Amino acid sequence: MTVTIVVGAQWGDEGKGKVIDYYAKNADYIVRFQGGNNAGHTIQVGDDVFKFHILPSGIIRPDKTVIIGNGVVIDPKVLLDELSELKSRGVPIAKVLISDRANVIMPYHKLQDSAEENAEGDAKIGTTGRGIGPTYTDKTNRHGIRIGDLIDDELLMGKLENIVPAKERLLRSLGKNAEFSVRDIFEEYRGFGRELHDHIMDSSVVLNQAIMANADILFEGAQGAQLDVDYGTYPYVTSSNTIAGNACVGSGIGPTHIDEVIGVVKAYTTRVGKGPFPTEQDNETGELIRKKGNEFGTTTGRPRRCGWLDMVILRTACRLNGLTGLAITRLDVLGGVSKLLACHSYMYNSDKLVNFPGNLRILEMCKPQYHELPGWDELQKEEWREIAKKGYDALPENLKKYLEYIENDCKTPVKIISIGPGREDTIMQN
Ligand code: GDP
Ligand code: IMO
Ligand code: MG
Repeated sequence: MTVTIVVGAQWGDEGKGKVIDYYAKNADYIVRFQGGNNAGHTIQVGDDVFKFHILPSGIIRPDKTVIIGNGVVIDPKVLLDELSELKSRGVPIAKVLISDRANVIMPYHKLQDSAEENAEGDAKIGTTGRGIGPTYTDKTNRHGIRIGDLIDDELLMGKLENIVPAKERLLRSLGKNAEFSVRDIFEEYRGFGRELHDHIMDSSVVLNQAIMANADILFEGAQGAQLDVDYGTYPYVTSSNTIAGNACVGSGIGPTHIDEVIGVVKAYTTRVGKGPFPTEQDNETGELIRKKGNEFGTTTGRPRRCGWLDMVILRTACRLNGLTGLAITRLDVLGGVSKLLACHSYMYNSDKLVNFPGNLRILEMCKPQYHELPGWDELQKEEWREIAKKGYDALPENLKKYLEYIENDCKTPVKIISIGPGREDTIMQN
C-alpha cells in the first residue's frame, strides 16, 4: 500500500495531470482535495487529449475510483458537463465519489468573483472567474452550501432564503444589479443534487476503509505552492491551501498515512494571472518559450507569462510540502535554447536571499541571481519518444546535467522525467 500526494511546485500548470495519469496506473483511488474548476489538468493518451477541471485525472482509468474530497469547491454543472462529455466520447470511466461536505459554487459566487475583480481596478488578481474565492470565503464564514445540502430540500431552501437576499445586497454594493429567484436556484440545484445523488457520500469513511484494506491512494493537487493562500505570493494567490498538508484536511485522512509527496516542476517557470514573478522574461526569451511550449492557459486560454527556472521557488516547494521526489516536465520544450539560466538566489539590497520572502514589496526589489547551464538540441517528437523508450542513459548529456543541478540544489531525487505530453514520453527513475 502506498499513499502518494502529487502537488504543483510553482504557479500551477506544471503538468500535474500528466504525472497523475502516469501514477494512476498503479493506484486504486485518485483524490482531489482542494481547488475547483479553476484547475485545468491535461492528459494525452495517443491522439486523445483530455482536459479536466473538476474531475480527478484518474477518471479515464475505468478500474479505479476517483474521489472529489471535502476540500474541493464544486460547480455541479461543470462536473455534470465533464461527465457527460466523457460519456459522449464513449470513454469508459472510473467510479466517482463526491464528499457530502464539499462546498458548492453557486451562481452568485461567479458574479461576485467578477464584480470584486472589477472593483479592484489595477489591483485585480486576474482570477479564473469561476467563483472560487467567494465560495471559499462563504465556507469559512459559514454561509456555504454543501453538496449534501443539494439532496435535502428543506435544508437547501432554508439556506437559500437566508443567503440570496444578502448576496443581492452585496452585489448591488459592488455595482452589479443582480436579482435572483430563490425558487429557480432551488429547482436547478436540487436537480443537480438528484443527478449526483448516487455519488454523494462521506468520502472520508470510504478512503479510510480503503487505507485499512491496503489500497494504493493518489492525491491530486491543483494549482501550485506559489498560489497557496498562506505561502504563495499573497494576495496574488488562489483561495485554498495547495500544499501537501492540505491533502489530509481536504479528504479526511490522518497525516500518519502519507508515504510519498511528489512535486511537479516545469523545466522553466510560467504564471497565468497577475502577481510577482522574479524570473519572468517579458522579452524575446519569454516569447520564445511561450511559442515553443504553446504556453496558453488550459482553463481560460490566457497567454502564460514565461521565465527561467527559479530554484528559490523550488527549494521553498520542497520545504513546504516535504517533497520526497520531483517530477520534471517539459524538458523537450527547452531543446534548442542554447543557454539556460536558473536563479539560485535573490539579491535584496546587499542581502542574499535563499528563501522566498513573504513581503511583496521586498520581493519587488529582489534581483534574481543566475547560474548558467548549457542547453541541449531541439529534437522532433518522435526522437524524444525514442529516447523515452531507451531510458535515462539516452537523454542528452546537458539535459542530465540540468537534472543533476536541480536534484543537488533541492536535495530531492528526480523520480519522473517528462519529455513530451504523452504517457509514453516519460522516464521513471527508481
Ligand atoms: P497541470 O495544470 O499541472 O495539470 O498542467 P496543464 O495541463 O494545465 O498544462 C501542462 C501542459 O503541458 C499540458 O498541455 C500537457 O499536455 C503538457 N505537458 C505535460 N508534460 C509535458 C512534457 O513533458 N512535454 C510537453 N511538451 N508537454 C507536456
Ligand atoms: P492548475 O491546477 C495556473 C491562478 C489564476 C489567478 C489566481 C487566482 O491547472 O495548475 P482563482 O480563480 O483561483 O481565484 O485565481 O490563481 N490559478 C491558476 N494558475 N494553474 C491553475 O490550476 C490555477 N488555478 C488558479 O490565474 O492568478
Ligand atoms: Mg493547468
